[in-house]
Formats: sequence, structure tokens, C-alpha cells
Amino acid sequence: MTRHFPDSFLWGAATAAHQVEGNNLNNDWWQLEQLAVGYIDASGDALDSYHRYREDMQLLADSGLNTYRFSIEWARIEPLPGQFSRAELGHYRRMIETAFELGLTPVVTLHHFTHPIWFGERGGWLAEDAAELFVRYVQQACTILDDVKWVCTINEPNVVAMNHGAARIMAAGHPYPSTPWPDPEIGRALIAAHKAAAPVVRELTDARVGWTVANQAFTVTPGAEDKFAEVVEEWEDMYLVAAREDDFVGVQSYTSQPIDKDGVVPHPENPNNTLMGWAYRPDALETAIRHTRAIVGDVPIVVTENGIATNDDERRIEYTAEALAGVLDALEDGIDIRGYIHWSLLDNFEWGRWHPTFGLVAVDRETFERTPKPSLAWLGEIARDNRM
Ligand code: FCB
Repeated sequence: MTRHFPDSFLWGAATAAHQVEGNNLNNDWWQLEQLAVGYIDASGDALDSYHRYREDMQLLADSGLNTYRFSIEWARIEPLPGQFSRAELGHYRRMIETAFELGLTPVVTLHHFTHPIWFGERGGWLAEDAAELFVRYVQQACTILDDVKWVCTINEPNVVAMNHGAARIMAAGHPYPSTPWPDPEIGRALIAAHKAAAPVVRELTDARVGWTVANQAFTVTPGAEDKFAEVVEEWEDMYLVAAREDDFVGVQSYTSQPIDKDGVVPHPENPNNTLMGWAYRPDALETAIRHTRAIVGDVPIVVTENGIATNDDERRIEYTAEALAGVLDALEDGIDIRGYIHWSLLDNFEWGRWHPTFGLVAVDRETFERTPKPSLAWLGEIARDNRM
């Protein structure tokens, strides 16, 4: 049976600046890559999308997709505190205009994991004026957002709280935590920054404003109900509650994990696991959508990330088809879902690793040649028909 998606559904693919641009010399991830030589991969030239963004967007538009989610890089726009680069703002404005020219709806993320080095040196999100500094950057970013209709303030604040929480633990002389946990204090600082930035974006632009939350589709093991409640609150729900006044909320889903009395159960080794080591769970997206709805209420949902790290493109198609069937089931139950944005348009720098390939398009990292995979045409056709 063919099922239809709602009219004006956003059909897209996503990237993030640091994962595709190359030579983001002034952010904390680049700094980490230099410190951890030999332990993690470096981003280097990445995919040179800083220069090749038109080609990336053209591939996306040609396939039938209508939306491109990308991020703008704070460290480029504000290389020193309070010093804003007109040239870099101009660069991102040109990206937005290119999207319009190609008939694409841009979904612009203002912050996707990376920070200017100076921001970290001042204490990062725990500095007293962190929210103010973020808002000052956001005000500048708004000067290039004319006609943009969708803006995400902060990508996966819960993952930011986890990564920075781990860094905090290590700075205190402890090893990298075996079970990383989103640091609730950093989480609260991020919520404050989001709550300060969202009204500014709303005032200065015509965009709908929201943030995008990593959703782990947790399931409870019988007897572990209390632990489940504790984990879900600090991993997800505090960030979703903070989205109740937003114009939309982004759902980002890849896999699902059980919670037992000790907490989050690591993914067991399984030949079916993805290249991230995550359990193959295309059904996680529907669980994530339903959980988000239960916590945020009627705020419209956009699936801002969903995808799979695999070398087998047929498996990507299979995974995505099942995830989309879950989206349709949720829609049929009346959940207001405005779009599906796949992670990722391109095989890219997966935060310290190059081997987990999430892309609908492969990229030769020496010649930067882009080669669309069959999954791009497959998803583009569903987008064109708006049904499956
Ligand atoms: C999410 C990130 C994104 C990408 C995917 C695989 O946590 O937002 O940048 O790394 O996971």
C-alpha cells in the first residue's frame, strides 16, 4: 500500500561545518585533533566543502530532495572574542543564496559541536557569561539569515554536555569515563544559552527556531524503572522540556539502547552492528518521535538526523525505508512531523574517525570527487513523489 507524506514535507540531507569544510583551524575540535595525533583521525581538508558547497547542493537538488541542513562555523565568524568576520558571514550568506537558487530550503544550524578556541579557554559553557557570548554571536549570524525559515540554535546539546562532561572529568585527572554521561550542569548552561538565543533569532529573522536533541530510544529492562527514569531525564528529557516553547524540535535518531539497573547497556557485539558499533535499529526513529511527542507536546517535529554508517548502500536503503515506515506510522497517529533530513549527504569526518561512512554520496578525499550512491537517487525519488 502506498502511503503519502504531508504536503510541503521537508526532504533533505544534512552536514555540519567541521565535518565537511576542511581547515577549521580556529575551533576546539581542530585543537583536539592536534593534541590527539595518533589516537584519532584529523579532519584536515575534510571534503573541501568550504569551497565545493555548490556542487554538494547541486547533487542534493538534482536527486529530488528539497532541503539542505548545514551549519555555520562560529570559530570562523568570530575568530577572536567580539571580532566578527564580514568575509565569513558573507561566505555563509552565499551558501544560503545558493540553496535558494537551487530551489532548496536551507535549515541552518548555528552551533554544531565546535567552539572557537577562545570560548573554551574562557571556561566554555560553564563561564558565567557563556550564554551572553553565544547570543552575541547569534545576533551577528542573524544578519545573514534573511528568508531562512528554519534555524537550529544548538545541535545535540545533550551530546555537547556529554563530551564536555568527559573533558571536565579528564581535566580533573581522571581517565576518560567508561560510561559517558551528559553533565547536567553543562546541560543547564546550554539550556540557558538556547533560551537566550531563541527569542533573538525570532525577533531578528522570519525563521522558526528550535534545537535538535539526540534521542537514544531507550527501553527499560523490567525491574530497572527507577534507573530508566533517571537516565532518560538527564540524557534527553531536560533538553526536550526546554523545547516546549520552541517553534519546532529536531529529532535525531540512529539506534536504541536498553537501560538496566546499572544504567545504559553498551551495544553488545553483533555482526549486524553498524560501523559505529551501534545496534542496527531502524525502528528507533519511531520510538524517538513518540518519546519526543510525549515530552514536548504539540511542538512540530522535524527529523533533523537519521541514518546509518555502513559500506553497504543497500543496507542504508533498507534501514532508511524502515525508519520512514515508522515516520508514516507516527504521522498516521496524528503526530505533527514536518520533514525528514537524512544524515548525511556526504561521507564525512565522523568526529575523529573517517571510516564510519554515513553518506548518500561518497567522496574521494584526495581529488574531492563526489560519487552519488544509489541511496541518493532512491531517497530523492521518494521525496519527489512524496510517498512510499
Ligand atoms: C550526531 C551528530 C552528527 C553525526 C551523527 C552520526 O550525533 O550530530 O554530527 O556525527 O551523530
